Amino acid sequence: MVPPDVPTRDAARSLDAAEVERLRADFPILSRKIGDRDLIYLDSGATSQKPRCVLEAEQQYYEQFNAAVHRGAHSLAVEATDHFEDARAAVAGFVGASPDELVWTSNATEAINLVAYAFSNASAGRGGAAAEPFRLGPGDEIVVTEQEHHANLIPWQELALRTGATLTYIPVAADGALRMDLAPQVIGERTRVVAFTHVSNVLGTITDVARLVELARAAGAVTVLDACQSVPHLPVDVKALDVDFMAFSGHKMLGPTGIGALYGRRELLNALPPFLTGGSMITTVTMERAEFLEAPNRFEAGTQRIAQAVSLAAAVGYLSEVGMDRIAAWEEKLGARLAAGIEPLDGVRLLGPAGVPRIGTAAFDVDGVHPHDVGQFLDAAGVAVRVGHHCAQPLHRALGVNASTRASTYLYNTEQDVDAMLSALADVRGFFGVNA
Ligand SMILES: Cc1ncc(COP(=O)(O)O)c(C=O)c1O
Repeated sequence: MVPPDVPTRDAARSLDAAEVERLRADFPILSRKIGDRDLIYLDSGATSQKPRCVLEAEQQYYEQFNAAVHRGAHSLAVEATDHFEDARAAVAGFVGASPDELVWTSNATEAINLVAYAFSNASAGRGGAAAEPFRLGPGDEIVVTEQEHHANLIPWQELALRTGATLTYIPVAADGALRMDLAPQVIGERTRVVAFTHVSNVLGTITDVARLVELARAAGAVTVLDACQSVPHLPVDVKALDVDFMAFSGHKMLGPTGIGALYGRRELLNALPPFLTGGSMITTVTMERAEFLEAPNRFEAGTQRIAQAVSLAAAVGYLSEVGMDRIAAWEEKLGARLAAGIEPLDGVRLLGPAGVPRIGTAAFDVDGVHPHDVGQFLDAAGVAVRVGHHCAQPLHRALGVNASTRASTYLYNTEQDVDAMLSALADVRGFFGVNA
């Protein structure tokens, strides 16, 4: 048995083993086998599994309500629109936002690109005086961190290239922890945007959002939070976090693929020039020009992901019923168990700072064995993990590795899942003959 070492949440609020066992019955895929082994799914950081209610919501939508929204005068179109807008209200409410502050996107990547492209449209002169806060040019700075997923790095690199602004970043220490001590030097009077991750998708560590928001506000900069790995796993109240924009993906939080969301502060969303243009986002159109709707519709050009929105609403309903604080406490326990089990293994290096909470995720490097081999060895034991750079090459480079193996949990993982992974991991180096 591995003693969890750094749980910080109220353990009494955590899910317990019996509840997790009951929840598992809601996820059909968890009863399948990999070869003759039970599936042990430790890759929820990449994408989560789906409970039956989410699968049923999507099927029921297509069987009973399918129609184009916001357009038709017939009953079905009205019902479809109601379901679509109810879904928006449910997902917005889940993160403490108002429905008109939540824009549907296809995933977090598109949500972040939406903001970055809207900035460059403003920088190219679109959006009138209201878009002034989004105009960038030479001398302006965009700040990110060295922990970012490529989805929250490359859109800003590209924005810098399009506008002449400079991209700067808060570096990480040798152990991957953000150098928060350097943040006041990086964020300054030239800073116009601060875009950063809430939870590292590699390390599972949590960023001090309040401090970065404070520094960004003092600089008059817009904040963009990549909440892809926090909204599924922690209680997130966007108003309490006080960020200007926040992006997350449905498929990582029990919902379907093909849908994500961008939260934006209402006044900022309405001042931001659109990214995609076309049908459903306009008030009037002439052959020369168009006037745009208010947010969120001004950012929702074309036929939307209606069934996906409806089933994502079922997912947040499920998560809320279980309780996000209870899920977070359980995952923190699992994260601590992973860390405490990995640390003593000979030749295995746990990535990330020691002694801080990890939200159910642990990445590691096995000396002498390529992560792909580690992944295949674990797969033979029925354990599904992610290998590679996890779309975070700069962070891996800073940690002195090209790639790693990542185990990531969710509310349906048990302590036995973690122990099975640890037990297989303990045999990897021996199997590949690098024990010496
Ligand atoms: C921290 C983080 N940001 C952004 C993304 C991109 O999410 P998506 O591929 O769903 O757009 C991911 C996905 O792994 C992530 O972990």
